[in-house]
Amino acid sequence: MTLGVLAGTGQEGRGIALRLAGAGCEVMVGSRSRSRAAGTASELNRLLGGGTHIRGSLNREVAAQSKVLFLAAPFSAAADLVSGCTPRAAPETTWVDVTVPVSFDAGRIRMTPLEAASGSEQLAALLPDPGALVAALKTVPARLLEEVAAPLDCDVFVCGNSGRRKREVAQVLSRWPGVRTVDAGRLDTARTLERMSALLIGINRRYRVHESRFRVVGL
Ligand SMILES: NC(=O)c1ccc[n+]([C@@H]2O[C@H](COP(=O)([O-])OP(=O)(O)OC[C@H]3O[C@@H](n4cnc5c(N)ncnc54)[C@H](OP(=O)(O)O)[C@@H]3O)[C@@H](O)[C@H]2O)c1
Repeated sequence: MTLGVLAGTGQEGRGIALRLAGAGCEVMVGSRSRSRAAGTASELNRLLGGGTHIRGSLNREVAAQSKVLFLAAPFSAAADLVSGCTPRAAPETTWVDVTVPVSFDAGRIRMTPLEAASGSEQLAALLPDPGALVAALKTVPARLLEEVAAPLDCDVFVCGNSGRRKREVAQVLSRWPGVRTVDAGRLDTARTLERMSALLIGINRRYRVHESRFRVVGL
């Protein structure tokens, strides 16, 4: 089973690709540029110690070949990316939205104004089957994802309207060292997760760290 990372050339996408490949999955990273995708894939394969665990291609080709698609673009670019890739993706594809609709205005973090209650719900509405989209990894720092030798040591919240798709995503992510997945509920919980991510960005700034994250106690 191939897992794809759309816009997989950025920090978050690269980290997701590394973790997926490190867990033994066959991975494709996508880009608007074939050469950027290929360059990222070879760099990530080198970081994994050689071999061809990760292939690079255009986003639409990644969409056509992947059973699970991680969406790792800036939120402002995500709707166009989803719309462009949807015709190429199989109907049974599960979409994993990791985007966080925030922007920075004179150094301040602002939630992006949305047409839906959350970024994930706005993106899900673009799919032929909105239930195919699951939100996950919104509160996991990219910087830590890229440090493949380090266990993530955190909880990963997964929310969505299809229990089957949430379980599918949780099964993949649970293979990453140090990860416990937590079922956070239906997709409307993404609104909370997106704000929790903004909270972490502020905490990182105030404490001058890069890797703050969540662990739920009492579970
Ligand atoms: N950074 C974190 O710690 C963190 C944590 C949780 C979630 N996230 C979320 O993860 C997502 C990715 O974050 P990032 O820091 O990796 O982002 P990024 O580096 O700014 O962008 C990722 C990739 O998106 C592609 N891209 C940029 N503009 C685009 C456009 N207009 N249309 C299509 N593709 C475009 C680029 O790939 P090509 O130029 O190769 O096409 C770029 O390499 C964001 O939504 C962010 O909120 C980030």
